[in-house]
Amino acid sequence: MSHKVLGIDVGASAVKGGIVDLDKGEMISERFKIKTGAPPAPIADVVEAFAKIVAHFDWKGDVGVGFPSLVKNNVVYTASNVDQAWIGKDIQKVFGKRVGLKVRAVNDADAAGMAERAFGGGKGQKGTVLLLTLGTGIGSALFRDGILIPNTEFGHLKFKGDIAERYCSSRVKETENLSMKKWAKRLNKYLEHLELLFSPDLFLIGGGISRKFDSFKDQLTIKTEIRPAEMKNIAGIVGAAMAVDA
Ligand code: BGC
Repeated sequence: MSHKVLGIDVGASAVKGGIVDLDKGEMISERFKIKTGAPPAPIADVVEAFAKIVAHFDWKGDVGVGFPSLVKNNVVYTASNVDQAWIGKDIQKVFGKRVGLKVRAVNDADAAGMAERAFGGGKGQKGTVLLLTLGTGIGSALFRDGILIPNTEFGHLKFKGDIAERYCSSRVKETENLSMKKWAKRLNKYLEHLELLFSPDLFLIGGGISRKFDSFKDQLTIKTEIRPAEMKNIAGIVGAAMAVDA
């Protein structure tokens, strides 16, 4: 019997879920999304969106969550793009208690990275692989010979007088109305910095904007190989489901 888990990806402005076959790394249901409004959504709205997704699938099994914060042993430690009230909260006590199920969470970028590593573009890849998710914030997942070093938070590296995610996330592209070329030049500078610090063998770029990789790749002049993540918008959900075994 295959191992099925409900994966839920908590984003800054929406919560998305789907049923995942963990043996195949595939989503076997449709992707169900509930918008929670402009970030940071109040904690209660996120919990209700989570409960609606569980109810939508009439789910009675384990639930894995990708959460956009530093998450250690199921506890949330930071809140850059989510309600500050999340800090110190135990995911089981908040989400698990609401639906009466076992819920395990990991950082959202680590989740996407785990999915890409097991089933997507990072499969079988040796050496140092760094996946970045470009969205409201910048998430990072760092692997060495397939082993994840969790909660790296490279979007929070001090960069250009602020932190990197406030310089070149895809939200910054929108809020500062940057052309693709201008934004990609910023991204390239950040990638150069990461290249200097970590000497990766491969960069994988995830997040919604990675679908447009072909329209900005020419601005990326780094020496390291760089590819868009392969699993597109399901990496976060598949990886979230993997959290139940993490
Ligand atoms: C958070 C990370 C998260 C990333 C992407 C950052 O602001 O600090 O934990 O992975 O956004 O959602």
